[in-house]
Amino acid sequence: MTPKMARIKKIAQETPSIRTFYLDLETDAKPGQFAMAWLPRVDEKPFTLTGTGNETAITVQEKGKFTKKMFELKEGNSIGIRGPFGKGFDFGGAKNACIVAGGCGAAPLLMLAEELKKRDVNLKIVLGARTGNECLFKERLKNTGEIYITTDDGSLGEKGFTTSVLERLLEKEKFDCVFGCGPEPMLVRVFELCEKFGAECQLNLERFMKCATGICGQCAIDEWLVCKDGPVFKSTQIRKMRDFGKFAMLKSAKKVSLQEYAQWRQK
Ligand SMILES: Cc1cc2nc3c(=O)[nH]c(=O)nc-3n(C[C@H](O)[C@H](O)[C@H](O)COP(=O)(O)OP(=O)(O)OC[C@H]3O[C@@H](n4cnc5c(N)ncnc54)[C@H](O)[C@@H]3O)c2cc1C
Ligand code: FES
Repeated sequence: MTPKMARIKKIAQETPSIRTFYLDLETDAKPGQFAMAWLPRVDEKPFTLTGTGNETAITVQEKGKFTKKMFELKEGNSIGIRGPFGKGFDFGGAKNACIVAGGCGAAPLLMLAEELKKRDVNLKIVLGARTGNECLFKERLKNTGEIYITTDDGSLGEKGFTTSVLERLLEKEKFDCVFGCGPEPMLVRVFELCEKFGAECQLNLERFMKCATGICGQCAIDEWLVCKDGPVFKSTQIRKMRDFGKFAMLKSAKKVSLQEYAQWRQK
């Protein structure tokens, strides 16, 4: 699939480090699916689709070379888009659900929360960030259910981790499903808690991506390809994963520990 060039209709500043780019492009993206964004002569990188239909959008946190270039773009400029790719969330039967989002992990969970609200699902949202002003989609998520906020520095909501709040919720409530996205150590804890309390979960995982179509093998976790079989995985799959929370592949395709992967990411 070759990228389609899409004009940027609108740019919304969500937090000091995160912007949403609304695109002049119609897709039928489902919550949890992603696209590859292409900047000619720069690179091509994966981003969750945070809107669908004629509201198709990607939400980008400024990090390294590619995202810094994205932040130089203005309304009216164009980017290339390939996608939607992957399998999104399976939320058909949910009546009572919980969402756990850490940092930019709120990106794939926003469309899901809005879809669950339309279906009258009883929803609890645990939203975590480093600081209060980095809480992504706080206002929109508030409209979809009961929200609990945690921050690392205590500048908004409870000081501490999303998973402490999740543990308290699981102690008193039974959820049909816990949906999560965020840093992998957080997702490991979400999974452990769901197993302990007998709740099913669906987690949105990330691995380094190149082709996004299941050809190059770069995004493998055990026998699964995150771009094709994921990025959302269910408890039944996660129980069998040996790499989850432990190993990831560098761009060179060398498999390293998650700690080494994180150090490489920060270089
Ligand atoms: C399925 C999926 C969905 C994502 N959705 C979002 C989103 O909605 N919003 C958002 O801000 N970010 C999202 N990301 C992460 C995003 O792709 C990276 O932040 C981006 O590629 C950074 O590129 P950079 O050049 O600015 O930074 P770099 O300095 O190159 O990298 C910074 C970080 O991005 C990761 N990264 C870099 N290149 C890739 C790649 N090709 N594939 C996967 N990860 C990469 C690195 O591991 C590192 O953690 C998603 C990643 C995946 C796999
Ligand atoms: S990125 Fe190539 S197989 Fe997933």
